[in-house]
Amino acid sequence: MNIADMGFIPGRIMEAIVTTYNSDGSPNAAPIGIYPISDTEIQMDIHEPTDTRSNLLRTGVCVVNIVFDPHLFLKCAIIGSGKGEAENEIAKDETISAENVDAPALKEANAWIELKMQTSEEKTKSDMHGEMKFSRVKCIVENITINKKYPIAINRGLFAAIEAAVAKSRGMPVDARHIEIMQRTLSPEEFKKIKELL
Ligand SMILES: Cc1cc2nc3c(=O)[nH]c(=O)nc-3n(C[C@H](O)[C@H](O)[C@H](O)COP(=O)(O)O)c2cc1C
Repeated sequence: MNIADMGFIPGRIMEAIVTTYNSDGSPNAAPIGIYPISDTEIQMDIHEPTDTRSNLLRTGVCVVNIVFDPHLFLKCAIIGSGKGEAENEIAKDETISAENVDAPALKEANAWIELKMQTSEEKTKSDMHGEMKFSRVKCIVENITINKKYPIAINRGLFAAIEAAVAKSRGMPVDARHIEIMQRTLSPEEFKKIKELL
């Protein structure tokens, strides 16, 4: 099993939840775009001032969690953004320590990939959101853990939730169409939790 078997193919951007430890040992989680480079390497562009960036630069390790939970994508994008240990988006008991690197992994993840940072480069880019500083980090795969081996069917609510989470993390309003898709295609319980969060 390598990361390409899980859809991490060079040229694609994959969306996953990256977990790291804050400096007090509490866990941090954030949705991050993953750029596969090869079967054993990935790249991420991590913006300032996220906790993920400061934790990864400090510890040199992280875990990429493969999850299909729409509420979790939204929660980790909205809560605790850049707030370090002052506001935790996930509880310690929702995580376990990864095997080969000193970083937390999400217990509920379908699989996780443990990464060690190889290089980091400071960069700046300008777009419609203004000038942004980010670190371009290249990481090597240290270990892969598969927790759930069954296939997962496609649900439009997950994609709508991811688009809503992207909007929220850029300080933009959530598109009414994404709300409508989530309401129609997620279970009433899932949608209720998301509505309360938004
Ligand atoms: C689907 C998705 C993908 C994202 N990709 C990135 C990314 O590649 N780099 C980044 O810096 N932020 C990305 N974000 C925004 C961060 O997840 C967001 O700023 C988060 O609150 C940072 O949390 P932290 O401060 O706990 O690290 C993404 C958000 C979503 C919803």
